[in-house]
Amino acid sequence: MTLTDTKHEPVLLHESLELLNVQPGGVYVDATFGGGGHTRGIIERGGQVVAIDQDPDAHERAERLGGVAIRFIRSNFRDLEAVLNSQGIPSVRGIIADLGVSSYHFESPDRGFSYRLEGPLDMRMGLHGPTAADVVNTFGEEELADLIWRLGEERSSRRIAKAIVEARKREPIMTTTQLTDIVRRATGFRKAGHPARKTFQALRIYVNDELGALEALLEAAGRVLEPGGRLVVISFHSLEDRIVKHFLRNDPRFQVLTKKPVAPGPAEAARNPRARSAKLRAGERI
Ligand SMILES: C[S@@+](CC[C@H](N)C(=O)[O-])C[C@H]1O[C@@H](n2cnc3c(N)ncnc32)[C@H](O)[C@@H]1O
Repeated sequence: MTLTDTKHEPVLLHESLELLNVQPGGVYVDATFGGGGHTRGIIERGGQVVAIDQDPDAHERAERLGGVAIRFIRSNFRDLEAVLNSQGIPSVRGIIADLGVSSYHFESPDRGFSYRLEGPLDMRMGLHGPTAADVVNTFGEEELADLIWRLGEERSSRRIAKAIVEARKREPIMTTTQLTDIVRRATGFRKAGHPARKTFQALRIYVNDELGALEALLEAAGRVLEPGGRLVVISFHSLEDRIVKHFLRNDPRFQVLTKKPVAPGPAEAARNPRARSAKLRAGERI
């Protein structure tokens, strides 16, 4: 029986497992369990997995996977060292992180990640701290414009921020559809991509402090990987990829294994839309 789930296809699965260099009996961290696609791959190659995800729903999926080769810990991966300490594990053979949100998030309207589905404007993966609605209803216009520019790389950030501040004078912005309509009216029709995509991305990255968590994870990886251990990171936008690239290049504890980022081939990109923007980078702990 294969452990592979076909509904939520893991991105760059073969490439990431090869670079992780899974050895039977070795302990690996899957820092972003999600639907467990990469974890399954590691187990199928004989590895043991400490699986981390901050999303409460991921726990149930991990339990369904069951078995002795996996321990699931609900946590933010920025606390990797504390997680391993709590399990009595001083070091590991490899770490994989497949960043961002999962397809389960996008398909659950109640989590507020999708600009295509009506839901509360939430976007918190770990379900604590301020929501995206808190941000759009309380930040000043300039602060909002900077956030949408910096984390969404959205050229119309000023126009969008102005429209948000105008709209919330009439009523609070509480749903995904309200925000999508405001952004669409502010930017007009776009040939490439949904007009609200970058604004939603910016809010999601901010609400979950995704870049701060990534930096903390990379630092922790330098401390907990055994010599010869591998770090594999799959990212989905240039801000994350830049952080991983610079870290692996500049940290003397790592040797870069991917001079250029690994991207999905045409067949995977055609099959799995989520894979299209994926970039994988890997390094070996010296
Ligand atoms: C792209 S999905 C991973 C998919 C998984 N590799 C698979 O094949 O099913 C990313 C997952 O990482 C989790 N995640 C994102 N940032 C996290 C963080 N800072 N700490 C813990 N989990 C995080 C999300 O909740 C989501 O479930």
